[in-house]
Amino acid sequence: MRGHLNEVTAHAAASMRLHIPTMFRPTAAQSICDDFGNGGTVLDFSAGYGGNFLGSFGSRCQRYVGIDPNTALKPSFGRMFGWIERHHPHGKTWEMVWQPAEDMDYSPWHGEVDLVFTSPPYFDLQRYSDQQTQSWKRYSTIETWLDGFLFRTLRNLKPCVKRGGHLALNVADNETFGIRIIERLVEFCPKRLGLRLVKVIPYLLAGRPGARIKGKRVGWGQKAEPVLIFQRG
Ligand SMILES: C[S@@+](CC[C@H](N)C(=O)[O-])C[C@H]1O[C@@H](n2cnc3c(N)ncnc32)[C@H](O)[C@@H]1O
Repeated sequence: MRGHLNEVTAHAAASMRLHIPTMFRPTAAQSICDDFGNGGTVLDFSAGYGGNFLGSFGSRCQRYVGIDPNTALKPSFGRMFGWIERHHPHGKTWEMVWQPAEDMDYSPWHGEVDLVFTSPPYFDLQRYSDQQTQSWKRYSTIETWLDGFLFRTLRNLKPCVKRGGHLALNVADNETFGIRIIERLVEFCPKRLGLRLVKVIPYLLAGRPGARIKGKRVGWGQKAEPVLIFQRG
C-alpha cells in the first residue's frame, strides 16, 4: 500500500483477491480502431499484453506498430503473432519495438499514422515489470513522469499523425494515490500540441466487488475509465 494503508486501500487490496486482471478488451479496441483508424495505421506506444494489437488486427486497419519496453512480453507476442500467421491468412502488417516510448526516434513513421491508440501506465499505480526502462522506475514523481514520459512521447510522435488523424488515449486518475492525469492531458494536448478534444468514450472496466463510485461502495461495482479522443487539425 506504499504508506497509504487505510480503510479504503485495505478494502481495495482484499477485493483484488477476487479481481481478474484483464487487458484492454480486444472487442472494445476493435471498435475504436474501426471508428478512428480510417482502415490505416495504428500506433500503440504502451502495447502491454496485446489487447490493442488484437483489436487492431480484427478491425479494418491494415497496419499496427506497437511499442513497449517490457521485454518479458517478447515470447508471448511472438507466439501470438505466429499463431495468427499460421491460422489466419491476411494482408496486414505489424511490428513491435521493445523500447521506452519517450526514447523513440519516430521519424520512420512521420505522416503515416491514422490513429495513436494506447493505454499508458498510470505513473506508478500498476508496476508491470521491475526493468529500469519502465516509466515508474525512471520518474519518481507524477510531475517528472508527465513531463519525461507522457508529454514528451506525445510531443515526439505528433509528426507521425496524419492531418485529420486521431489519438485515442485511455487514462485515469486515482485519488487515493494522488494520481491526476486526465485534466493535465486535456489541457496539454490542445495548448501544446494543437490537438482538439473531439470526444470522450467511457470504457467499462471489469466489475470488482466492493468497488467505490464517488466514495460510495457499490457491491459488484461497475466503473468506467475515459478514452480521450483528440484530433490533429
Ligand atoms: C496499461 S498497460 C497497457 C495495457 C494494454 N493496452 C493491454 O491491453 O494489455 C501499460 C504498459 O505500459 C508499458 N510501459 C511502461 N513504461 C513504459 C515506457 N517508458 N514506454 C512505453 N510503455 C511503457 C508497460 O510495460 C505496460 O505494458
